[in-house]
Amino acid sequence: MLITEILYTITQIRQKIKSFKEKKLVIGLVPTMGALHIGHESLIKRAKQECDIVIVSIFVNPIQFCLGEDFEKYPRQIEADRQICSKLGVDIIFAPNADEMYPDEATRIDENFTIVAPPASYQNKLCGNFRKGHFNGVATVVLKLFNIITPDKAYFGRKDAQQLVIIKKMIKDIDLPLEIVDCPIIREPEGLACSSRNKYLSAESRNKALCIFKSLKNIEKLYNTGITSASEAIELSKKLIDPDLEIEYFEAFDFETLKRAEKIQKNTLFAIAVKINGVRLIDNLII
Ligand code: PAJ
Repeated sequence: MLITEILYTITQIRQKIKSFKEKKLVIGLVPTMGALHIGHESLIKRAKQECDIVIVSIFVNPIQFCLGEDFEKYPRQIEADRQICSKLGVDIIFAPNADEMYPDEATRIDENFTIVAPPASYQNKLCGNFRKGHFNGVATVVLKLFNIITPDKAYFGRKDAQQLVIIKKMIKDIDLPLEIVDCPIIREPEGLACSSRNKYLSAESRNKALCIFKSLKNIEKLYNTGITSASEAIELSKKLIDPDLEIEYFEAFDFETLKRAEKIQKNTLFAIAVKINGVRLIDNLII
């Protein structure tokens, strides 16, 4: 097994990219914040199938965390991540530090840094309502990664549905020449969506969190029995959520435009965020 090389600087990775481009190799990028799990692995495997060169970026992006969030304690485990990447045949890990990405110490959104702001109509709902500025931070770092690595394809998971829609919108609006590949949600055997943040859950909380997927599946069941009102399906399915889970939102939107959905139809996104013992979990179902 070849050990995946880790590059830490923009100069180093640009040199490599130049040589790949000279050979006309198709470059796939999987942007991550590390603490890789089988959800990330599925994106990497898809990229391996479709690209000549696969690059995984690992960067816990400070500007997408709000004050009081888990930036400091977010799991960092580069050697374990490297093993996973090596096993999957990843060509390069790009793991810059915050100074490399934000050299002017603009490590939080302030007046000294250019920020990419996705449209308000895509931001001021779902997670955007609860994590102010989060999607500015995501769009900014993703655009930086696209400019540094210039991939032909970039892989994103539906687990973060609002993020995926916002990135697709950015690509379209500013004419970035790459393809966004969207990948299905990977779940643990009992249905909990894989997330780096699942590490924070106690056994008891993890068990309680299983109701999230059950309630999403219930939406599908209701739809199949003829219910077409999104709010009715949500109200009925909310009853399956354990009372120890604090629901931040449970709402329906169109998966492309993020406009609120009244009627359930193809491409309706049912998205939920809950807090359990201080741990924030998100999940969704797309009809
Ligand atoms: P991170 O949370 O590490 O996720 C990296 C990618 O893996 C995202 O596209 C996410 O949707 C996908 N992913 C995570 N869990 C998944 C699951 N259970 N099934 C399928 N895909 C899953 O999302 C980020 O990092 C950051 O915001 C980033 C885009 C890297 C920008 O900093």
